[in-house]
Amino acid sequence: MPAEKHSVTIRPEISLGKISPMIYGHFIEHLGRCVYEGIWVGEKSKIPNTRGIRKDTVAALKAIGAPVLRWPGGCFADDYHWTDGIGPASKRPVQFNRWGPSEDDNQFGTHEFIDFCRQVGAEPYICANVGTGSPSEAAYWVEYCNHAGATAAAELRAKNGSKEPFAVKYWGVGNENWGCGGHMEPEEYAAEYRRFAGFMHSRDPKIELVAGGHTAPDWNWRFLKNMGRLHLIHHLSIHVYFPGCGNDADFTTTDYYNMVLRSTEIEREIALAREAVEVFVRGAKPVGIIVDEWGTWHPQARDDNGLQQKNTMRDAIVAAGCLDVFNKYACCVTMTNIAQTINVLQCMAQTAQDKLWLTPTYHVYDLYKGHMGAESVHVDIDTTMVEARAGDGMKKELPVLSASASLNAAKKTLLLTVTNRHLDEAVEVDINIQGDFKVKGATIHTLAARDIREYNDAEAPDRIKPAHPRKLAPDELPHLLAAKSVTAIEYQLA
Ligand code: AHR
Repeated sequence: MPAEKHSVTIRPEISLGKISPMIYGHFIEHLGRCVYEGIWVGEKSKIPNTRGIRKDTVAALKAIGAPVLRWPGGCFADDYHWTDGIGPASKRPVQFNRWGPSEDDNQFGTHEFIDFCRQVGAEPYICANVGTGSPSEAAYWVEYCNHAGATAAAELRAKNGSKEPFAVKYWGVGNENWGCGGHMEPEEYAAEYRRFAGFMHSRDPKIELVAGGHTAPDWNWRFLKNMGRLHLIHHLSIHVYFPGCGNDADFTTTDYYNMVLRSTEIEREIALAREAVEVFVRGAKPVGIIVDEWGTWHPQARDDNGLQQKNTMRDAIVAAGCLDVFNKYACCVTMTNIAQTINVLQCMAQTAQDKLWLTPTYHVYDLYKGHMGAESVHVDIDTTMVEARAGDGMKKELPVLSASASLNAAKKTLLLTVTNRHLDEAVEVDINIQGDFKVKGATIHTLAARDIREYNDAEAPDRIKPAHPRKLAPDELPHLLAAKSVTAIEYQLA
């Protein structure tokens, strides 16, 4: 029996801004089995593929409308020289890869990445090499991808198979340059950024550049202060991982609540990055906040196993809460890319030879996909609290319910996503839609598990999957939400 009364009040008249579809983006890196095996198997593989790219991976990402893919890293990006990955496949050099597997034969390069994006229907987002690269190498990459004329770069692209420019809009200027991307001080990165960004942008003024920010105190402030004008920063990115609380699929109740509480701290990181940007932009053009790496990172994901971990229902609950936060910050969060799509960290799917199975987190993306491009609206949540320990060890309160809502462009449907994070108690939720909106009916999708430690694998690929959608009449409200479950309710409006 439900123990407490909870309520969710949706206020469609209070708009929080349009939810950029890019908020539901992904990240792929030449690391572990993400690109090689998870995406690229080569044309000669027995695994069904289109021009070397796994068909099952493409189908899975297409089905959730994956809007953007960030590549080639991650840390790998700052040690990657893109010209190694173009031209005849047999002539491409084998490159050392510190992030493993230790040798990369460059079979998956720029053309293969663009092909993958097009098969999925996603925008490409390329991260240029600042750590070991040069401004001319990065600018040449922009020109190679985007120039439509007859320069040597454009002709080389045509010779390599694509007369059509790739029109890559999003470009990262390095990755974690405070860490694996060169261990720079913010002032050093600002100096590098000005050089790289200026030359990259000169090749195609339509591109949007992403500066690599940080969550360490005052890093973004020092970087932005040293940038002077911010005209070449279109977005500032941060990375937010949630490190181990217990093991990936073996953790206590306390570990569970601590992990979920820690994941809610992503809201504070976004707010801090936004604050820094607003101070230095000084009312000029807006600079978006991108979280281009985020997710759970359990102790089982280590360098020597290619950062692989089991993905349980706990990971799904974490993802749902973060997506609610991104929806809430629709005004300023312009993109996010959960790490990393296939086989690595909090991925969407895992593979073993020709088998592919979806993770619980994938199903959350499926439940939430209706938010993409819709208008985020204000939600008041009245719920109970569970005590847990935050990242700094302090005791804090975790709200049992997390929720967000959006109105589609035609104002014909309202999507509410709501998670009951309580491990043992179902909750009865009184859901109210304020204002001049009449509900004709609703469809409800639920993702739940018997045990929070459950995950999908090759033997049981559908152990966790959404229940069949149910149609509800308006008088069937309020709803009973099962313990540890994620629910999406799509209201049809009159
Ligand atoms: O996603 C794994 C690694 O985490 C990335 O390569 C790096 O950017 C981050 O530290």
